[in-house]
Amino acid sequence: MASSVTRGTWGSRTGFILAAAGSAVGLGNIWGFPTQVGQGGGAVFVLVYLLCVLLICLPIMVAELVIGRHAQLAPVGSFDAIRPNTRWWLVGVLGVLAGAGILSFYSVIAGWAVAYIWFTATGAVTGDAAAVGGFFTTFTANGPLSIGLTLVVLGTTAAVLLGGVQSGIERVTKLMMPALIVLLLVLALRAITLPGAAEGLAYYLKPDFSRLFDPTILNAALGQAFFSLSLGMGAMLTYGSYLGKHESIVSAACWVVALDTAMALLAGFIIFPSGFSIEGFDPSAGGPGLIFAVLPRLFSSLPGGQLFGAAFFILLTMAALTSTISLLEVPVAHFIDVHSWARRKAVLLVTTVVFLIAIPSALANGSVGFLGNLPGLGTDFLTLMGIIWNNFALPIGGLLTAVFVGWVWRVDRAIEEVELHGAPFPGRALWSFLIRWVCPVAIAVIIVYTIASM
Ligand code: TRP
Repeated sequence: MASSVTRGTWGSRTGFILAAAGSAVGLGNIWGFPTQVGQGGGAVFVLVYLLCVLLICLPIMVAELVIGRHAQLAPVGSFDAIRPNTRWWLVGVLGVLAGAGILSFYSVIAGWAVAYIWFTATGAVTGDAAAVGGFFTTFTANGPLSIGLTLVVLGTTAAVLLGGVQSGIERVTKLMMPALIVLLLVLALRAITLPGAAEGLAYYLKPDFSRLFDPTILNAALGQAFFSLSLGMGAMLTYGSYLGKHESIVSAACWVVALDTAMALLAGFIIFPSGFSIEGFDPSAGGPGLIFAVLPRLFSSLPGGQLFGAAFFILLTMAALTSTISLLEVPVAHFIDVHSWARRKAVLLVTTVVFLIAIPSALANGSVGFLGNLPGLGTDFLTLMGIIWNNFALPIGGLLTAVFVGWVWRVDRAIEEVELHGAPFPGRALWSFLIRWVCPVAIAVIIVYTIASM
């Protein structure tokens, strides 16, 4: 494998954590999590989600960071360097495909966020629930506009990646993350004091245990956890390859998981109380439009709501951008490391391909009828992309990563890498058990159970 290219590294440990958290925190937390909770029956989804995060995703986060830091290469190169002359590099290829696939629908939704900066700032989207919902439907039915917005998102992402690793990603995230946390806290405080908020909190926090083993909920929660944490496709592996040998992998992993989960939970504390303060609100009806239908109403209940709304969508756009950057970085780093392409060529070609795949998702909400409700599948193209990549590709990538570290490369070598230069590895026996047994078995059971019940 050719890898003569000089690799960037992070300016500091905080820089790494910020950048990895910047990858993790994005539409997955603020758009995806409430949407999935709404479709997965409320609090029971939250419970399953948290179990997936702790028992499956946190160990896999450590595993990805370890592989990347050990091999110092992008996914395909890393698997190949650790186990040459085997087919394990195909896990990296799955990641490259998933990166492009996820980015294709992700950039469409990020485009919606961009447009809502303008809509909220100018007060274009106001009125009662029906008006706000209708506004969203009319807006997304405009195919050329959706395509244009998608192009803006992808173009900006490509521009940041052309600037290299550290200067681009780290700087954006350092400013955006604290601002986003403060704004989410303010909005959550406002939301839980609205009339009707109690009903929303109950929906969000009191699980209906009878649905605990519903395969749809298990699979959606697992996929959402992988998606939200940027796991299962080598994004964290790639970030780990930029991590210095003196840094503690375990504490970095814990920080990223804690920040990401806190942001998702916080988003739920905004959406459900304010949703349920609307008469006749049905959290499962909104689909991908849930936050776009609920939030403008919350803003209009605030003094200076237009300003709050615009600030919110600016921060959401920035959070989405730090994620699109990491999604694009995986295929780009792949072509640089494995095929020795120049960064510029890799960025431009991959972005063009992703844009072409994004077009059907951008058109799914209206102008091209058959994309809106795919025959025989009862779902639109954008939602279908989410199911394929999030619910299947990412967990399968995670399963293979767990098997690779637990059984092929073997845990003692991974532990050795974690403990380099005396770095601590608290709970390493538990981690070994989870990565060898719990992660692969739980993921396999959920996937097989989902397929069997389709
Ligand atoms: N985690 C991001 C979010 O929640 C999306 C994302 C960025 C991602 N990079 C990824 C998902 C890599 C899977 C894999 O918005």
